[in-house]
Amino acid sequence: MQPIITVRNLSKAYASGFKALKHVNLDIQRGEILALLGPNGAGKTTLISIICGIVTASEGQVLVGGQDIGSHYRQTRSLIGLVPQELTTDAFETVWDTVSFSRGLFGRPPNPALIEKILRDLSLWDKKDNKIITLSGGMKRRLLIAKALSHEPQILFLDEPTAGVDVNLRRDMWQLVRQLQQSGVTIILTTHYIEEAQEMADRIGVINKGEIILVEEKNELMRKLGKKQLTLHLTQPLAEVPAGLTGYALALSADGTELVCTYDAQDDQVDVPGLLNALIDAGLRFKDIQTTQSSLEDIFVNLVKDET
Ligand SMILES: Nc1ncnc2c1ncn2[C@@H]1O[C@H](COP(=O)(O)OP(=O)(O)O)[C@@H](O)[C@H]1O
Ligand SMILES: [Mg+2]
Repeated sequence: MQPIITVRNLSKAYASGFKALKHVNLDIQRGEILALLGPNGAGKTTLISIICGIVTASEGQVLVGGQDIGSHYRQTRSLIGLVPQELTTDAFETVWDTVSFSRGLFGRPPNPALIEKILRDLSLWDKKDNKIITLSGGMKRRLLIAKALSHEPQILFLDEPTAGVDVNLRRDMWQLVRQLQQSGVTIILTTHYIEEAQEMADRIGVINKGEIILVEEKNELMRKLGKKQLTLHLTQPLAEVPAGLTGYALALSADGTELVCTYDAQDDQVDVPGLLNALIDAGLRFKDIQTTQSSLEDIFVNLVKDET
């Protein structure tokens, strides 16, 4: 199937000369949740802003629904809902008015039943006559989503949807995003929270210093880059790894009480029973065995570190 968004060779140099994006290529598939994961300043907001037509690219092309955003701005923009990083609505407008007005901006005819449904879905219905200034932070975030959904977009961009949001609200937001996906919306969210990408995304794009370092299915990413570790807690400390065990990738902890075997998570060939037998043959006794798999966090930290 044709990607719903195609980004080709996209670069952005701001007026200052600073290169915020460097030759970015990215396909976004219909119906997926893609997380753009990267540290502050990586270029996430710049990338979203270009796709949404707020910032102009210095080089490259963006297709939305198969059409060029430059030559088909109105059609492509109307497919997109954008939830910006910052709240920028008139504080004295009511919830109902601001959401209805957002729909009108896209030339859509009024549809009170739809606005009601959106507000109900976002638990804002009982606030519909309240002024924005009276809303809590979490409500304001939901209001931004309501505005972005008001013209029935097929694609929703959420720029750092949970930055500075407490844990409970974050979980609510995640659930909401899943519901939106189930209703058929393609979702692109940016985040610098690894946990959020790990929790939410079907695919993860890692962006750092204006470059997309990789884009991969989340599970594949964990499988490919993840490491597994088998840790043996010994009953007696060792001075060195016994000679008979050099065939295994074993490391001894500084105090000699733990032997650690590290292997790629994708490698099913590590002969764990053989290793245990070899340990027993070498006269070693252990009181506990522990296995761990690296998290997305470990993987991410390594990726970003390698790039610097
Ligand atoms: N209008 C601008 N003029 C100059 N530099 C900018 C402008 N907007 C963003 N930048 C710079 O571009 C880089 C990427 O910014 P941004 O896309 O906001 O990153 P992110 O959203 O990943 O934190 C940052 O170093 C930022 O300072
Ligand atoms: Mg940003």
